[in-house]
Amino acid sequence: MSIQAEAQPAVAFKPRRLGHANLFVGELERSMHFYNKIAGFEPVFREPHIPAGFLSNGNTHHDLGLIQIPKGKTVVGRDGHVQIPHGRGLEAGLNHFGWEMECERDLALAYKRAAAAGLEVHRKVDHQLSHSIYMFDPDGNLHEFYADMLDNWRTVFNSQEGPAITGNWDPDAGNWLSEGRYHIKFELRRVEDARVHTIRFTSAVLLTKNFDKMVQFYGETAGLKVVYRSKDGTYVSFAGPHANHGVDITLVKQDRAAKPTVHHYTYEVVSEKEIDAAERALAKDGIAIEKKIDGPLKRSIFVRDPDGMLCEFVAPRKLDFAVIEKADATERAYLL
Ligand SMILES: [Fe+2]
Repeated sequence: MSIQAEAQPAVAFKPRRLGHANLFVGELERSMHFYNKIAGFEPVFREPHIPAGFLSNGNTHHDLGLIQIPKGKTVVGRDGHVQIPHGRGLEAGLNHFGWEMECERDLALAYKRAAAAGLEVHRKVDHQLSHSIYMFDPDGNLHEFYADMLDNWRTVFNSQEGPAITGNWDPDAGNWLSEGRYHIKFELRRVEDARVHTIRFTSAVLLTKNFDKMVQFYGETAGLKVVYRSKDGTYVSFAGPHANHGVDITLVKQDRAAKPTVHHYTYEVVSEKEIDAAERALAKDGIAIEKKIDGPLKRSIFVRDPDGMLCEFVAPRKLDFAVIEKADATERAYLL
């Protein structure tokens, strides 16, 4: 390591991979139904006081957290911990992305580097399942860096409703767990009567207005590796070392006047055959498939959730950035 690098250490949380998406939704029951019966995720827990619901097929404690938009009210968890401050979550869309850390020790040390660098930390949280640090990126998207704390998350997320589980965490308290509690092997659950049979949430594509600052945040603060940068400089893809399919998140440069948003959320399906079955089942239900891709990179279909968020259900083939580079610029966002 150079002297300069030692003098100015990057914050670099260095998560293993993108673990979950947490979404603000207009009507919780409508969205729980969509992500369960259409997208094929099993509900694992509910927090009626928010109200919120969580879904997973086993990959991690939740691939999706859904929170009904609080419409300005403050949501408080255990010990007076403010879960959603007044004024946040005014409309449906991304609440936060959850990034899976190797262990609590790595999380606490990254937090200390962030604090020493003068970066603003939004929340320090004990979710019981995990300990978490929340930070905003330059576009205002919220990110949760979390370390799993339990041998078996199903002891807490167990299909039941429960009281508030979220409270305060003091990352300076020490005694950090230095072993990973995430699950590499898991028993895959299947929602038999769902239209699509999914394994997990894998990745997302963001349309960003503060492109250069965003690239810096994901590289230096999050500590993710750049795995693709388009020759025209308008696309950058990042991955942690255990990204589910080689890419965790892609940033797409757009006009600075445009509103930053998530282009789509990607969910991996069990097999390519499941895409055929899903197409037939969705057609029977009259659910529109907005786009289909059947190419060297993947077979996938795009469907809107009840709030208009674009979901991609994908069976990956071979990740080849040369194919993406050759694609029409307007198509690239769908390919990543
Ligand atoms: Fe989360």
